[in-house]
Amino acid sequence: SDAELGERIKAAKAALGGRAVILGHFYQRDEVIQYADFVGDSFQLANAALTRPEAEAIIFCGVHFMAETADILSTPEQAVILPNLAAGCSMADMADADSVEECWEQLAGIFGTEPDADGRVPVIPVTYMNSSAALKAFCGENGGIVCTSSNARTVLEWAFQRGQRVLFFPDQHLGRNTAKALGVPLEQMPMWNPRKDLGGNDEQALLDSRVILWHGFCSVHKRFNVAQIEKARADFPGVQVIVHPECPMEVVDAADSAGSTDFIRKAIAAATEPTTFAIGTEINMVNRLAAEYPQHTIFCLDPVICPCSTMYRIHPGYVAWVLEELVAGRVVNRITVDDNVQANARTALERMLAARP
Ligand code: 13P
Ligand code: SF4
Repeated sequence: SDAELGERIKAAKAALGGRAVILGHFYQRDEVIQYADFVGDSFQLANAALTRPEAEAIIFCGVHFMAETADILSTPEQAVILPNLAAGCSMADMADADSVEECWEQLAGIFGTEPDADGRVPVIPVTYMNSSAALKAFCGENGGIVCTSSNARTVLEWAFQRGQRVLFFPDQHLGRNTAKALGVPLEQMPMWNPRKDLGGNDEQALLDSRVILWHGFCSVHKRFNVAQIEKARADFPGVQVIVHPECPMEVVDAADSAGSTDFIRKAIAAATEPTTFAIGTEINMVNRLAAEYPQHTIFCLDPVICPCSTMYRIHPGYVAWVLEELVAGRVVNRITVDDNVQANARTALERMLAARP
């Protein structure tokens, strides 16, 4: 039962003392979040992994790419543990290193590799945090950088200072929404088409581009649509609509604001008057905010329950298991990024941590 699992988790945590730290992403279910030592968005969780060198083990309650990032940023002695190894991210899987390398080579064939008179290289690769460590390493190796939904704007500005254009992967929506907010016209954001049988790429469009988008998307956030926002506005005059930038562009445009999971949380926390909020993001987080802020009316834009199915794979039973194994002196479900990937991926992550517009 949940109560028994709770007792087991508490007992194991007590036995470990400060040797293990539990990090939880906002999308985790409450049954897991209640045992987390730190809860945050993906940027905050990366920082949390960087700043807790005293913990021997980091139990990462989130998805695989986040645990990889934690392994890259933590010390070599620290073990990063993903309680259920099946907790991946379908968006991250939409950009594999081979396809991106192939795209990169083709782009080099079109643009060459020489900087222009201002010293800007033809293309800067930018990967969303939601990607494999191999892609972060690819960016580190090729003058590129990582971004999260909370710093995508700053990172794109960083990239435009150094490059004539950006190759942004895997999330087309975050790329498009962020570039649009920076004033890049839609016609300067072609989507890379790897399939010659489907027409391939319009070379002139690539030459004129400022941002080349990848075709990835989040299956949770693509469910949100403008009709849901119109309905919320009709049903609740004065409603504040806040969505995550992984939502399609029309949805972000129709909302009052868009930002990372922590941006959404802060926007609600900052409201001084009772307010109705319609939120476009994962349901576990929305329900938790609704319970935390009973003075407001908070609901999810999608009337059909929309959990992130892979985040949901972190069940408290797995958390109890990995903790008890640690108590017994065994490390299970450790996530380790190869040394050669690790160094370049760290370079790209450190550029992100240091990026200023
Ligand atoms: P943030 O926590 O950075 O907003 O990202 C949301 C998300 O989809 C994580 O997968
Ligand atoms: Fe991946 Fe979307 Fe789940 Fe985030 S919400 S982990 S992007 S599938």
